[in-house]
Amino acid sequence: MRGPLACRRTGPLRGAISVPGDKSVSHRSLLFGALASGETRVTGLLDAEDVRSTRRAVEALGATVRDEGGEVVVVPPERLREPGDVIDCGNSGTSLRLLMGVLSTVPGVSVLTGDASLRRRPVRRVIEPLRRMGADLSARAGDRLPPVLVHGGPLSGARHVLEVASAQVKSAILLAGLFAEGETTVTEPERSRDHTERMLSGMGVPVGVDGLTVTIRAARPRGGRVDVPGDISSGAFFLCGAAALPGSEVTVRGLGTNPTRTGVLDVLRAMGADVSLENAGEVAGEPRADVTVRARELRATEIRGALIPRLIDELPVVMVMATQARGRTVIRDAKELRVKESDRLAAMGETLARAGAKIELFEDGCTIDGPTPLRGVEVATRLDHRIAMSMAIAQLLTGGDEAVLDDVACVATSFPSFFELLDRLCSGAAR
Ligand code: S3P
Repeated sequence: MRGPLACRRTGPLRGAISVPGDKSVSHRSLLFGALASGETRVTGLLDAEDVRSTRRAVEALGATVRDEGGEVVVVPPERLREPGDVIDCGNSGTSLRLLMGVLSTVPGVSVLTGDASLRRRPVRRVIEPLRRMGADLSARAGDRLPPVLVHGGPLSGARHVLEVASAQVKSAILLAGLFAEGETTVTEPERSRDHTERMLSGMGVPVGVDGLTVTIRAARPRGGRVDVPGDISSGAFFLCGAAALPGSEVTVRGLGTNPTRTGVLDVLRAMGADVSLENAGEVAGEPRADVTVRARELRATEIRGALIPRLIDELPVVMVMATQARGRTVIRDAKELRVKESDRLAAMGETLARAGAKIELFEDGCTIDGPTPLRGVEVATRLDHRIAMSMAIAQLLTGGDEAVLDDVACVATSFPSFFELLDRLCSGAAR
């Protein structure tokens, strides 16, 4: 789907669905599989643009990736080779940042770039720690923005204390640490998603976790099996939509429930939604469950501190939900939202305000006073999949008004089947 899209759906949302595989876990399965000894078999890999960017990148570095009867098989090269061309990461910050760590150790020259959105996203936060390990990287605009130029070479371990909780920065460092001499540690101000630590452990790499500090030494991961859970960041659109739309009840089956990712479930509960988990279990080191949300009258809540990294990607749709909650919802400590695929605080703040929300923006968050009825508006999606999908959910709260999304091609970044699943839930046809 490309170009503009007029949305004119009415709720409630009812039914049971599965959502595509987790994007963070999917990237890592391809990338770590390419570094491993022996092949890695992946089930449930997300088939979306961001993950395709990582797939093309690992192929450019010498790995073979093939589809085989519902599985994706990653066959690593003996060692990664210098790529023959610029690596285009498209819209994908995770591909770009994690590859910076890996390429720092691959002899030769590599160049990483991406689309107009990615070329506005900060990379100094990765360059600086990697340089402290002896890496040779530079980037446009005084090392601030992609493209990134990397001269790979030998690295030595170092201790890093991060200023922002970022799984991409942490993972880039840990990946470089896999090839460095000596020990590498990363300490975060709050815990970010820990998929890297879990997957590397599952591949036989000793990873030490002590509070907010992760320690790693040089090791080669062993290829194995990865089973990707449903992406809670994708499921969140329907779960938050269901919580806010009277009469709704949505189940998302097999959803990833890694505790570093479930902040949105905590917020749903705090706002008074009825949330239940069934068939909880853990496969390949990642917990998952069938998650059901039933609409209830919502009340405002405070979202800040350690909760922020646990729901950072869900905040745009949480902002939508908050417009329907009684009282003042407060979101703080979320400055990172300004450097995602777009400045999400500005994008959601401006768009929801035009739709009738009572919203005040700050540098690191906002307040939203509710409940307020919303109306249909024209939405600039700004190359940002989560702005497009959040505003498609917001349109459901307008009571049938039309909202026009100016370009929905970006939805293919993470969730190509989003509108199809939304239609099924709106018609109650999903089971
Ligand atoms: C991701 C980490 C988060 C998140 C992004 C995916 C990852 O970014 O927003 O969508 O897969 O490691 P930061 O690491 O920049 O916080």
